[in-house]
Amino acid sequence: MKILIIHGPNLNLLGRREPEIYGRLSLADIDREIAARAQALGLACECRQSNHEGEIIDWLQQAENEGFAGIIINPAAFTHTSIAIRDAIAAIKPPAVEVHLSNISAREEFRRHSLTAPVCRGSICGFGPASYLAALEALKLELTAT
Ligand code: DQA
Repeated sequence: MKILIIHGPNLNLLGRREPEIYGRLSLADIDREIAARAQALGLACECRQSNHEGEIIDWLQQAENEGFAGIIINPAAFTHTSIAIRDAIAAIKPPAVEVHLSNISAREEFRRHSLTAPVCRGSICGFGPASYLAALEALKLELTAT
């Protein structure tokens, strides 16, 4: 079973970007942790990052045709602004899990509302890179449930 992991804008700067909030691991470090956990769970995964809303929408629309059974997405700032990403998640068949490194409910007011979470199967936030690992576990349970 193949899972697509989508990292949104500015997540390519992880490690250098506000490390007191997002930690000191780079995106490549996090992707290595994701790949190791996916392998342990018997899942295949592919990690992508984009700073462009349209590219993320294209990836979501193509995911099923590309053979992905599920999606883990950290829409980053698009979480709070993008009706178009929300509509794409709602339009496609593979279930999506929303992930955030930080606890968006405990931060500035403008981060407390997610446009995308209501159309995802569920959300995991606040556990740093472990949010992605928990999402992998949840998605595996979801996809293998009878
Ligand atoms: C984030 C939280 C968002 O509010 C922010 O815009 C990000 C990262 C997180 O993973 O904690 O870029 O999605």
